[in-house]
Amino acid sequence: MDGIVNVDDLRRAAKRRLPKIAFDFIEGGVEDEDGLNVNEQAFRQHRLVPRYLVDVSTRDQSAPLFGRTYASPFGIAPTGLASLFRPGADLMLAAAAREANVPFIMSGSSTASIEDLAKVAPDHGWYQLYAARDKKISEDMIRRAEAAGLSTLVLTVDVPVHSNRERNQRNGFTRPLKLSWGTKLEALRHPGWLAGYLKQGTPMFSNWAPYVEKGASADAVAAFVASQTAAPLTWRDVESFRRLWPRKFVIKGIMHSDDAVRAASLGVDGIMVSNHGARQLDRAPSPVDVLPAIRDAVGDRLTLMLDSGVRRGVDALTALCLGAKFVFVGRATLYGATVGGQAGVTKAINILRREIDLTMGQIGCPSLDHLGPDFLLREREEDWRRNQRS
Ligand SMILES: Cc1cc2nc3c(=O)[nH]c(=O)nc-3n(C[C@H](O)[C@H](O)[C@H](O)COP(=O)(O)O)c2cc1C
Repeated sequence: MDGIVNVDDLRRAAKRRLPKIAFDFIEGGVEDEDGLNVNEQAFRQHRLVPRYLVDVSTRDQSAPLFGRTYASPFGIAPTGLASLFRPGADLMLAAAAREANVPFIMSGSSTASIEDLAKVAPDHGWYQLYAARDKKISEDMIRRAEAAGLSTLVLTVDVPVHSNRERNQRNGFTRPLKLSWGTKLEALRHPGWLAGYLKQGTPMFSNWAPYVEKGASADAVAAFVASQTAAPLTWRDVESFRRLWPRKFVIKGIMHSDDAVRAASLGVDGIMVSNHGARQLDRAPSPVDVLPAIRDAVGDRLTLMLDSGVRRGVDALTALCLGAKFVFVGRATLYGATVGGQAGVTKAINILRREIDLTMGQIGCPSLDHLGPDFLLREREEDWRRNQRS
């Protein structure tokens, strides 16, 4: 990993290591893939106005969240099928998060199990639920997460239907797989990846295996997961999951302030403002652009978190200035896991951590509680325009 200095370097190294079919699965958006750019650009439209003559000789980026203090204001978002990129990647992500004292959210389509997560990162592992059509399965997963002692359940709500990922269709990464000779030959040109894949075999959705007949193949379990997910989900389900889960309960994928208010009224502890890394609705706005309205609508009634498009430490700080308490990264740490396993995830975390530290120094911010809209030029311009109008 020598020579890697930022997340984009990790991205390019991951691209070299993976066959196109796998890299496209990480990288891809939906349809025209406008959303990918929209997410990253939304951060860049904000400029931070530095304050000087402030003592920033020590800078503290520790961040309280749900009764714990994490070492940084970011965590690892849930990313499914991680062991396709490197065998064992889910638990490498979990172990790196524990070492770095940041939260890790295990995906509802992970390739390791809730119970394994609780062994590797008992205090840092959260579980993300993809609700199943069969309600008993969701209820059982919630009970398993509780029995395993996990602190936080994250319900992803932005998959009402499976999304239109055209890269996957072109690559034949469909159900059933339709791999062309070209795709197979291209995979052969990535021996490092291929060796791991052949040793491991097709990744297994371990959390779902108990609900399929004993001894079912990874393919059979994957077909079962596809048939159970994108399940119809309404606020009534939120209410019933809230009743069932006794600890911190988060909804991931809220983008509208009315939905945020409704979540707060149902006793949800936090929301992740997210467009799933532009992997669901290509014309969705970026979370950064809807965050201020959501912040104004819910105030302190629940904890605001955000993901989608975070590639730099300054992106995390921008989200915090706009009212988020915490951010999550999906692709950044997945590139790290692909390139260097647990050490690669640690590399990604350290890159972001260092960028946050240096940016805090640059803007005159010794600790995160100093952050707010005053640091943002765009916010200030909008205030100024509002004042002119009134
Ligand atoms: C390869 C991949 C798999 C993902 N799998 C899931 C998943 O299983 N559950 C989920 O809620 N979000 C999933 N996401 C979305 C992430 O949790 C997160 O919202 C997104 O990656 C954030 O955007 P970023 O990648 O720009 O940081 C996935 C994202 C990627 C890139």
